[in-house]
Amino acid sequence: MIITKATAIANSNTALVKYWGKQDEQLIIPMNNSISLTVDSLSTITTVDFSESYDEDLFILNKKIQSDTPKKRVQKHLDIIRNIANVELNANVVSENNFPTAAGLASSASGFAALTAAASSALGLNMNPKELSMLSRRGSGSSCRSFYSGFVEWIKSDDNNESYAIQLADENWFDIRDLVIVFKKHNRKYTTREAMKISKKTSPLYDARLEIVEDNLVKVRKAIKERDFSLLGQTAEADCLLMHSIALTSNPSQLFWTAETLGMIKFVQELREGGLESYYTIDTGTNMHILTKPEFSDEICAILRKIPYITNIIECKPGPGVQIIKDDLF
Ligand code: ADP
Ligand code: DP6
Repeated sequence: MIITKATAIANSNTALVKYWGKQDEQLIIPMNNSISLTVDSLSTITTVDFSESYDEDLFILNKKIQSDTPKKRVQKHLDIIRNIANVELNANVVSENNFPTAAGLASSASGFAALTAAASSALGLNMNPKELSMLSRRGSGSSCRSFYSGFVEWIKSDDNNESYAIQLADENWFDIRDLVIVFKKHNRKYTTREAMKISKKTSPLYDARLEIVEDNLVKVRKAIKERDFSLLGQTAEADCLLMHSIALTSNPSQLFWTAETLGMIKFVQELREGGLESYYTIDTGTNMHILTKPEFSDEICAILRKIPYITNIIECKPGPGVQIIKDDLF
């Protein structure tokens, strides 16, 4: 019997040096290398089943049937995978994110990593992590970094076959905490993809960051190698501010923060001044990440729990890469 169904679990990743802008919009090749941390508690499980009995593709995310852009993105990605496998079967895709979708916590990263792994496995494509990473990149750029555990770099390259992720250090190398802060209010007008495109096209600061980013990459690689938490945190925070400066100076301006986000930026500065060394990073949402040392995590979480505008705090450690699992969602 030919099995055409498979399930994968993938974790989200937190960008320490951000991917922000594409040199090739179709192939999803980035303007700069980026470095991230694969985390252990923000995950997607996806089951993909290909069958002659399906009249069309179906995509169910968090128990809701999807249409429009989310479905089209999944279909476009399935088409690439179907093309490689040389099959024309329709698919049922069922996926669950265990954290907020489209809220700046990289659901597209874990989502497309899980989809790529499950779909390619269902079609019997025996791909290694480098090939999977390259394929997943076509669905959502940041997803290519989720194939590896721990600290990961996505290489830009000018060549479609050379832009993929590599592991810098596994999840046991350097123990840090990523406290994911989920706010009640959300503030997003554009998808990450749209915002990135607008930024690259219109921000007068875009090219300036490309020079600085090379230096940030050197610093973060060094920080990981030497387990230097201060250098890691300082550089991640500085790179986050560069990305948001670009976003803010775009036309139309991209403001992802709310008053609560600003309040938390101040809060992290105060934690540092009080001796609880921490840094923040923010992607395309109000939600944010507080990077800290394991020994400070409980104390910081206890303070955070008293802040009324915080809905949830998810304590993450460095986590594993994508895995195929036996428990199908349907
Ligand atoms: P985020 O900050 O959550 O990554 P994005 O705008 O980059 O926000 O991506 C959100 C989009 O990613 C969703 O609108 C949907 O198209 C896609 N996505 C999210 N989760 C999944 C999933 N589990 N499977 C497939 N696609 C997903
Ligand atoms: C701010 O990977 O979601 O999180 O490739 O268009 O799908 P597409 O974009 P996506 O962008 C992530 C941007 C970021 C920074 C990062 O993860 O490096």
